[in-house]
Amino acid sequence: MSSISKKTLYIETMGCAMNTRDSEHLASELGKVGYTQIDNPEIADLILLNTCSVREKPERKLFSEIGHFAKIKKPEAKIGVCGCSASHMGAQILQKAPSVDFVLGARNISKISQIIHQPKAVEVALDHDDSHYIFERSQSTLKAFINVSIGCDKHCSYCIVPHTRGREISIPMRLILQEAQRCVENGVKEIILLGQNVNNYGARFSGTHPKIDFRGLLESLCALEGLERIRFTSPHPLHMDDAFLECFAHHPKICKSIHMPLQSGSNTILKAMKRGYTKEWYLNRVEKLRALVPDVGIGTDIIVGFPGETEADFAHTLEVVDRVQFDTLYSFVYSPRPLTPAAHLENQVPDTIAKERLSMLQHRHQELLAQKAKNELGKVYRILVENVSEGSAQGRSDQGRLLSFEAQGVSVGDFIDVQVVAHHKGSLQAQRLGA
Ligand code: 5AD
Ligand code: SF4
Repeated sequence: MSSISKKTLYIETMGCAMNTRDSEHLASELGKVGYTQIDNPEIADLILLNTCSVREKPERKLFSEIGHFAKIKKPEAKIGVCGCSASHMGAQILQKAPSVDFVLGARNISKISQIIHQPKAVEVALDHDDSHYIFERSQSTLKAFINVSIGCDKHCSYCIVPHTRGREISIPMRLILQEAQRCVENGVKEIILLGQNVNNYGARFSGTHPKIDFRGLLESLCALEGLERIRFTSPHPLHMDDAFLECFAHHPKICKSIHMPLQSGSNTILKAMKRGYTKEWYLNRVEKLRALVPDVGIGTDIIVGFPGETEADFAHTLEVVDRVQFDTLYSFVYSPRPLTPAAHLENQVPDTIAKERLSMLQHRHQELLAQKAKNELGKVYRILVENVSEGSAQGRSDQGRLLSFEAQGVSVGDFIDVQVVAHHKGSLQAQRLGA
């Protein structure tokens, strides 16, 4: 045991679910050497910024954030920059921001308790193998993120992630099952499997490992007694073969909502992005999915203004949005990132045009959502209650729909049946059945 005891830790987490999970991992490691997590950076002994680099704008804010924490922190408190920006900026961070004490890349999170003792350390090796590392959870929660793989091999031409999280390695199934089992014993009802391309699970392990794919992993997890719900993010549309979709449809514990990152509806742009599928394949997968699970919830990510994107290309994206009628849509203006091939393409789309397309896309999605919400009236859902406060409660259906209802007689963690009674701007109000 280290000499450190009774110290406090503040973590600022940016970015995706993977980063949320990494922050839990950081807190768990530091918990073992005496740190308690708090939510006030002004009195913390250690401040960690767990960063995201997927787009330029939030990354630009990193240095003003560091400046802010440097100003408000206790004089002796340390600042560490972790995560994806740490991975690809490395020592530059120390040069630009002398108040930073160390830099720890996304692939090296498990080394946190050593790094805090090494002034000005930069630990960003992309070949570090964290795939055997499972951490102890300190708190019992309703939902838990579990990694199934680290890194990404896809090299989509716009994406920095392979340069921040390194090559894709699957985590041995034995460890995933152990972690899921421990979660269930601690009261977790829903697990969310995480990976850059979850349905490519099993493509590469760091040691010898019995042959297994994502379906095999899902089937083993479904057999865990006490585990009620399984979600995963993100699957890659390219790997959504019939067998995968049938497995998804077949198992009652697998929630019927799925994230299918489209990125673009234009075949020209999909090719330039190196996505590996066409608009036709994508629509065919949606059709197959809906044939198997008619009320499946489908979410997506779309980038507008990728270099060379014409009005006609964008019209294809809008057409896919119209045809699929996504339940959730995360949309972004293309942001050129260092180390990515697309950043060097000549025909970059002017920002004003990209922003116009973004707002058209978001507007269209909102219209479709409002139409869809009308069809929800009267529908009955079984939901897991996630939040109860001041007389009102929220829960999510299997399909990922968020419903609000009166909190009377319900507690977080209950499964209850509700009926949709009203909608407002795409959000759904419900009434408990049989109460
Ligand atoms: N510019 C804009 N959006 C991006 N994404 C990834 N890289 C970029 C980029 N360079 C989006 C993709 C991805 C989501 C997590 O972020 O849509 O699915
Ligand atoms: Fe997550 Fe990608 Fe951002 Fe890293 S760069 S935090 S993997 S979204």
